[in-house]
Amino acid sequence: MDQIVADKISQPLANTKKVFVKTYGCQMNVYDSQRMTDALSESGYQSTDTVEDADLVLINTCHIREKAAEKVYSQLGRLRKLKEERALQGKEMMVGVAGCVAQAEGAEIARRAPVVDVIIGPTTYHRLPDAIARARNGERVIETDYAVEDKFEYLPQINREKTLARGVSAFLTVQEGCDKFCTFCVVPYTRGSEVSRPLAQLVEEAKKLVDAGVREVTLLGQNVNAWHGHGPKGEAWGLGDLLYHLSDMPGIERLRYTTSHPRDMDEMLINAHRDLRKLMPYLHLPVQSGSDRILKAMNRRHTAVEYIALIEKIRAVRPDIALSGDFITGFPGETDADFEDTLKLIETVGYASAFSFKYSARPGTPGAEMKDHVPESVKAERLERLQALLMTQQTAFQHSLVGQTVEVLVEKPGRFDNQMVGRSPWLLPVIIDAKDTRIGAIITARITKAGSNSLHAEIA
Ligand code: 5AD
Ligand code: SF4
Repeated sequence: MDQIVADKISQPLANTKKVFVKTYGCQMNVYDSQRMTDALSESGYQSTDTVEDADLVLINTCHIREKAAEKVYSQLGRLRKLKEERALQGKEMMVGVAGCVAQAEGAEIARRAPVVDVIIGPTTYHRLPDAIARARNGERVIETDYAVEDKFEYLPQINREKTLARGVSAFLTVQEGCDKFCTFCVVPYTRGSEVSRPLAQLVEEAKKLVDAGVREVTLLGQNVNAWHGHGPKGEAWGLGDLLYHLSDMPGIERLRYTTSHPRDMDEMLINAHRDLRKLMPYLHLPVQSGSDRILKAMNRRHTAVEYIALIEKIRAVRPDIALSGDFITGFPGETDADFEDTLKLIETVGYASAFSFKYSARPGTPGAEMKDHVPESVKAERLERLQALLMTQQTAFQHSLVGQTVEVLVEKPGRFDNQMVGRSPWLLPVIIDAKDTRIGAIITARITKAGSNSLHAEIA
């Protein structure tokens, strides 16, 4: 492989090189991939959807569970073959691995996968174009030190054309990293400690999004409601203040934020749900377990009763709020009784949607070192029961919307003529029987039917 790279450096850079980006994992990875694509376009790389055409293949990886991480190596095996085929045609194909697997297992990737030219962790994406240039000169680049400089300050501004093409709903990362150290989770190690982007930077980026036609902005962070910064007069601000501020920005019609920790749902943020018409009535608030014993072992720093009280407080100010959560089955030491407590919590809260997983021991986390690991078959059995309950709640929620008149943000044409697809306030896609409705318009529609993962509606 070194030979291939060495042969190619003598060739002049083609004007239009193509990059194929494959994204795994969370919405923050989606945002990061977009920013990397924007940065690479400044170095002459156009995006392609066909991996076979690509001069550069970038995999943005996820390390949250073992399955997600293992995908990287099978993907790299396929890329090795492709790279060899391209080399036989005298063409270059560089391979980059970004994201949390790169951060956590950089040296291991370098050892196991000689096909990889660049390994780059999430805090150093502003160095990607330079890393690619160095790799083109034959260097094997591993950038996994936590950057001392702020990556957002050095990443190029968002690209207007690309933002336009991505549609009317956009992500805006406001915070990265996590200091919570839940004992099952790799994020504090792969993404590092909490860093909040300053207000001025966020306002500037939000304006650029609006200028490119964006109407709905989802604020992102591993621990988004831990965002903190300063207001225009230097006063201490939290996420609630930021939402009030952004909701005054002309052009932004809808705001969302994800993912939150129950400990950081402060008064201001709850009040934002009461006061801000633009803040959508949907909240993703993971609880992970309903057993106090397990919550303690997970280092979640709240009890089941505290979580339920918090939900009641939020519902008191915003009764139509739909809740979503994350759950883990089979954390070390979880007994049948602990699991029953989780089911009870789900019954009490009532979720509109949820994500649930079998516990996956992650190297380097305290959970992996704990005693009493739960057999896979038990984790799976509990997951099945939990998901059945959540599915019943999700279906009930969706059916409760039938007959309601709701505001829908029109996003794109539907699969069939005379159809448009939009987004309900609760994130669920809505298929509307309406042709020629302007993309970006917010229309009033009556829900006529609930499908498994979408709603149907007619113009009201
Ligand atoms: N095993 C299973 N699920 C996990 N999550 C995080 N770490 C693990 C793990 N080791 C889940 C949590 C978190 C979501 C993003 O992924 O539920 O909220
Ligand atoms: Fe992981 Fe817990 Fe931080 Fe969420 S709050 S990113 S689960 S450590």
